[in-house]
Amino acid sequence: MITYLPATTAPPVELPEMDGSSHPMRAVTQEAAFQAKSWTSQRAKEVTDFFDEIAPNWNERIPAGEMAGIPDALERGQVERGGLCLEIGAGTGRATVHLLKWFSQVIAVDISMEMLKQLDAAPRLMADGAQLPCADEAADAVLLANMFLFPAEVKRVLKPQGLVIWYNSIGEHTPIHLTDKQLLEALGDGWHGIASKWSHATWCVLHRQ
Ligand SMILES: C[S@@+](CC[C@H](N)C(=O)[O-])C[C@H]1O[C@@H](n2cnc3c(N)ncnc32)[C@H](O)[C@@H]1O
Repeated sequence: MITYLPATTAPPVELPEMDGSSHPMRAVTQEAAFQAKSWTSQRAKEVTDFFDEIAPNWNERIPAGEMAGIPDALERGQVERGGLCLEIGAGTGRATVHLLKWFSQVIAVDISMEMLKQLDAAPRLMADGAQLPCADEAADAVLLANMFLFPAEVKRVLKPQGLVIWYNSIGEHTPIHLTDKQLLEALGDGWHGIASKWSHATWCVLHRQ
């Protein structure tokens, strides 16, 4: 079940410039969430090369303001303060700065060295989110901002009461996007969500029941 909260920002007047619904990353997102075997070493390399190449321009092409809804997700999504948050697919750290104000510890994980090179706010870990070098039940929360969901691995590294924070900075126009219903379906039984919008962004915090 998902509980929808009203947005606390006025709805944006204009649509985002990008429509990611036909972006090649959309199909990869669906497959990562629902067909674990689709994430092969070849695919991991292609995705790494893609993000390594666009990394130098990432901060210019994506306005930092798109992450302004993260504090809203943490607050109204009922995320407990303190603890360890694994930010998987952290990129250049646009969300990291918000997480550091909430959690005691944040580890920024990314498969792309060129993206991570630009992140200096938190400890960095270059790793594949489908195969994290982390102990079972290590994290209090996993944040995925515009990042693929690998359900089995996320559930493995989360503590039993751990949370998943899903954030799409331009909502359904984000190339790496899942609907709230798809999130619940991919994670399987035993989860419920609190969701809302922030300007163009959509967020959903998934709690274990
Ligand atoms: C669309 S970008 C989002 C970056 C950042 N979260 C943001 O919103 O600005 C997706 C990020 O996920 C990373 N990524 C893609 N696949 C990954 C994987 N399997 N494991 C870890 N990071 C991955 C990419 O390198 C890239 O930095």
